[in-house]
Amino acid sequence: MKDTYILAIESSCDETSCAIVKNGQEDIATVILSQIDIHTNFGGVVPEIASRQHIKNITIVIEDCLKKANMKIEDIDAIAVTYGPGLVGSLLVGLEAAKTLSLIYNKPLIPVNHIIGHIYANNIEKKMEYPLIALVISGGHTELILMKDEYEFEKIGGTLDDAVGETYDKVARVIDVGYPGGPVIDKLSAKGSYEYDLPIPLNDNSYNFSFSGLKSAVINLAHKMKQRNEKLNKENLAKSFQDVIVESITKKTIKALKDKNVKRLILAGGVAANQGIRNKLEEICKKENIEYNFPNIKYCTDNATMIGAAAYYAYKKGITATIDLNAVSNEEL
Ligand code: KG4
Ligand code: ZN
Repeated sequence: MKDTYILAIESSCDETSCAIVKNGQEDIATVILSQIDIHTNFGGVVPEIASRQHIKNITIVIEDCLKKANMKIEDIDAIAVTYGPGLVGSLLVGLEAAKTLSLIYNKPLIPVNHIIGHIYANNIEKKMEYPLIALVISGGHTELILMKDEYEFEKIGGTLDDAVGETYDKVARVIDVGYPGGPVIDKLSAKGSYEYDLPIPLNDNSYNFSFSGLKSAVINLAHKMKQRNEKLNKENLAKSFQDVIVESITKKTIKALKDKNVKRLILAGGVAANQGIRNKLEEICKKENIEYNFPNIKYCTDNATMIGAAAYYAYKKGITATIDLNAVSNEEL
């Protein structure tokens, strides 16, 4: 069978990225320009600044990617792009670039949901097998997705309020350890011990999550200690907080796998880079005889490679878009 090369574009938040992916599995070339250094000054992503940066970077990443792959647009079979969910101004930049390329070079345009992209990050080095459950944990999402087959998605649970990555970022801001908070808290946690008692969120039998109570508990603790002039041990707080997150996430995930009688687990999204979550899930999966796959750390946070991987299967299913494709900032699975 002829090989399929997809050029993919991702610009849903603060990373401008272009990748060329072969047959949904092989990363031929990936270029990512991150804006983290700019947004760090504001303690979070500023949407207006993000879209302006994407405009500056979009042509650079596309040109660099083609150069890196030693390919021309003419060698590409289709153009893929993230159309949502994400920041609307950011999404529109990637969308306009993809639509222009598709129109000028007469290539099919494949719309990809950002969350599906995160899931297919697992397919880049090892082909996914079904049925499986995907635990999607990112800055904007916390969801359990059942996939009975290729490119079929059934949401079985999700957060009722804040996403797990958002909670990490907020807690990091409260204890003043920098942005993005996830990687910093993960590292601090490895050096700390469990000291602060925090509530286990939504400790029930559902597949849903809730993190806003935990977030408020950390904020209250930090404020109280400041008022009393007590010194907060940041490493111990990071460890106490991460332990609660790990406990909540693993409990619900393992319950879903057992109830649905599914023997495969994959992890997706920026928080999938978390060492505490990876270690705990690995330990339980081994004990429970559950096959697991966690994406390479470099494909966990936003990148266009995962979009190119997902797009291959969308294309096989005949999913293409016309030139009036629009950004959908709150798109669900
Ligand atoms: O998937 P992503 O790049 O963007 C969204 O689609 O949201 O995820 C970004 C999120 C941020 O909240 C960041 O703090 C978190 O992923 N993150 C982590 C780690 N690395 C990134 N959270 C916990 N532990 C990490 N090691
Ligand atoms: Zn993402």
